[in-house]
Amino acid sequence: MNQARHIAIIMDGNGRWAELKNKKRAYGHEIGAKVVKDITAFCAANKDIERLTLYAFSTENWKRPRLEVEFLMKLLDKYLTSELQTYIENNVKFESIGDIRAFSKSLQETIKNVEEKTAHCDGLVQSLALNYGSQNEILRAINKIKNCENDITEAMLGNALDCKHDVDLLIRTGGDHRLSNFLLWQAAYAELFFTDTLWPDFTTSNLENIIKDFTKIERRFGGLK
Ligand code: FPP
Repeated sequence: MNQARHIAIIMDGNGRWAELKNKKRAYGHEIGAKVVKDITAFCAANKDIERLTLYAFSTENWKRPRLEVEFLMKLLDKYLTSELQTYIENNVKFESIGDIRAFSKSLQETIKNVEEKTAHCDGLVQSLALNYGSQNEILRAINKIKNCENDITEAMLGNALDCKHDVDLLIRTGGDHRLSNFLLWQAAYAELFFTDTLWPDFTTSNLENIIKDFTKIERRFGGLK
């Protein structure tokens, strides 16, 4: 039976969810952050799941209105600060992937602080993709290793990426069927699940059902049965 050891999620639909309720988009992000908390707790309690990687802010999200970007930055800071204790209690190690140098110094400090304070946790790894774009990640990786004497191998490039772990199961909420520059290298053989459910409505039982379907899939990785 397949195990979904590494689950990655494109959390889409916060804005539409709020607009459907005649609320501001920011409200959708706030409720979206609560769903992040629930889904993380669910994964932390499931010993088969080792890693949960969530797309929280892409390299393209800077194109949004300034106020929305600022709101997302504040929400992230608030979330990480208030969740630190929960991470530790649930034995969750927090990591960020992406180029966080574009963030304010204080947000960078919050991120590093949570990474340091949870470094000893050996349960689930929750990885937040922050100012993350897969093409940018691959370029940064190539620049790290380009001066080596020999030809670059798949293993060398894979190890130079921010996220060094292949994805088993990649889920996108919100109805669109695309990867939006998320984990393009690591998802080479991921099983892809798309759901129309908007992220604020996504529940742990939705995730449980997707995992059940995933376990039934025959994964051949390009080989034969
Ligand atoms: C997509 O919804 C979501 C984002 C761009 C950001 C994801 C953010 C959260 C889930 C909340 C904050 C997260 C943390 C970890 C605190 P959208 O705005 O693109 O929705 P739309 O497609 O309906 O416009």
